[in-house]
Amino acid sequence: MAESLKGRRILVTGAASGMGMAIARLFADKGAGLALLDRNEAGVRALAEEIGAVGVGCDVADRSEVNMAVAQADKSLGGIDGVINAAGIITKTHIADLEPESWDRMIAVNLTGPYNIVRAALPMLQAAERSTIVNIASVSALMPMAGTSGYSASKAGLAMFTKCLAFDLGPKIRANSICPGVIKTEMTRFLWEDPEHSARASGRVALKRLGVPEDVAKAALFFSTEDSGFTTGTEFPVDGGFSWR
Ligand SMILES: NC(=O)c1ccc[n+]([C@@H]2O[C@H](COP(=O)([O-])OP(=O)(O)OC[C@H]3O[C@@H](n4cnc5c(N)ncnc54)[C@H](O)[C@@H]3O)[C@@H](O)[C@H]2O)c1
Repeated sequence: MAESLKGRRILVTGAASGMGMAIARLFADKGAGLALLDRNEAGVRALAEEIGAVGVGCDVADRSEVNMAVAQADKSLGGIDGVINAAGIITKTHIADLEPESWDRMIAVNLTGPYNIVRAALPMLQAAERSTIVNIASVSALMPMAGTSGYSASKAGLAMFTKCLAFDLGPKIRANSICPGVIKTEMTRFLWEDPEHSARASGRVALKRLGVPEDVAKAALFFSTEDSGFTTGTEFPVDGGFSWR
């Protein structure tokens, strides 16, 4: 296994919490140079200081902020070989109650955000060797669920965006999406803090537990190394057996 990330320079969005944070910690352990972006500037700076990374406050939906943050990451790391788009938000509600502002914001953060990051980082990714893009989509990209029309549309869009990136940018750059099931993070606190909800969610998957951010971080590591060197354009479930089709 070529699991080391020594010499690789990787930008992670959404790194102040949950999966982005677990990815940042694992990648730092594996020797990567890291630029961590998050709207939560204090949170991302604190983590960056702790693990020896560069922390930048940035709203991924804001193109000028993204351009500045990616330029800062490039300057600090001396290039960018990999991107992980983990920043994301959810508004879970019936379509009749899904306000235009919520729809717009989910598309802006979950779909346009990764586009903004990839566009800004593209010259650096193209200049580097064996570059990788990993987008954190969701099982919501693979199967319909009640009350997730906006979120699922944004994540299905992200998964297809990733496949198209694989075509446009191969063979030099590989792009894969990870589709997590229910993972215990701030985003799903309402669910796993309630024992009844939690038991129901665990009970419906083959592996009979909820995921943890580290489950997703290990998959992100695989897709960011040559261990996955013949794999691009995939939608990879990390869901305990939830999204079988
Ligand atoms: N938790 C789950 O069960 C689950 C399942 C499937 C997919 N996902 C996806 O995984 C990704 C990570 O989610 P998580 O569960 O770790 O959530 P989380 O809420 O713990 O972390 C999300 C992070 O993204 C940051 N963020 C939100 N909007 C941002 C913006 N506009 N610009 C920059 N940063 C922003 C937040 O500040 C936070 O630090 C998200 O894309 C989410 O949609 C989560």
